[in-house]
Amino acid sequence: MNPYQNLLISELNGVLTVTINRPEALNALNQQTMRDLANFFRDALPNVAQIKGVIITGAGAKSFVAGADISEFTQLDAQGALEMAQNGQDIFFQIERFPRPVIAAVNGFALGGGCELAMACHLRIAGEKAKFGQPEVNLGIIPGYGGTQRLCQLVGKAKALELMMTADMIGAEEAHRLGLANHVVAAGEEVAKATEIIEKIATKAPLAISKVIECVNANYQDGKDGYQTEISEFASCVRTNDFKEGATAFLEKRKPVFKNL
Ligand code: COA
Repeated sequence: MNPYQNLLISELNGVLTVTINRPEALNALNQQTMRDLANFFRDALPNVAQIKGVIITGAGAKSFVAGADISEFTQLDAQGALEMAQNGQDIFFQIERFPRPVIAAVNGFALGGGCELAMACHLRIAGEKAKFGQPEVNLGIIPGYGGTQRLCQLVGKAKALELMMTADMIGAEEAHRLGLANHVVAAGEEVAKATEIIEKIATKAPLAISKVIECVNANYQDGKDGYQTEISEFASCVRTNDFKEGATAFLEKRKPVFKNL
């Protein structure tokens, strides 16, 4: 039985695809969907040895996620807003810190919380019809799920300020040019491209992949020194059998067989 009300989950050879399934609302992130995402990543963590990677996409051809669910905003007060933003940021950190690659397959609108969700993923594959934007100022609010921070990290301060202050939407090609999208593919090919990348990453040593994620994240985490994190995690990789196998396989001119040990 699917334990997640608004997510469809499928699995193929260790690649999990999470489809946000509220097409009637362009897959807007209501609180139930946010709980589902939190629960999905919490439940996935103990099984990570069997997971090559996770793809997040949206149901239907039109939208990835068109933002937080605006119909829930009418009951929102300042205290509720604090909790909503804190909770949303915590969930998106769960995604960003997941020790296997998480890729957004952006099949349409990625607006507001949808753009923030895509940015919390490690990579973004944009279908040619994808549209990205942070239109919150149109509603009298600002991004609350980490968008003001991650958009700067990905596209730089000046362009991030422009996008957030004008509320302009940009297409896939511009998102690619700015570094927001890693690749642009034909509509409908987003999940296939994400799968191809996850399969390639799965040929590498899993611990090393998780340490790359951890060290890169450390650069953006308060109280963490990314360079020091890199030194200690470099050493933790060297303690593994996979490191011995990788180095030996190179010298023996054969492909390594990594066992996550
Ligand atoms: N929250 C709740 N419902 C949403 C939604 C959101 N963020 N985005 C779209 N929907 C709903 C619409 O209300 C509409 O529902 P209805 O059929 O019951 O009227 C349905 O999804 C289809 O959207 P619609 O606006 O008719 O489609 P469109 O093709 O004309 O426009 C968008 C598409 C994405 C440009 C437009 O829906 C939009 O601007 N959405 C809000 C984006 C936003 O501001 N996100 C940030 C929120 S903080």
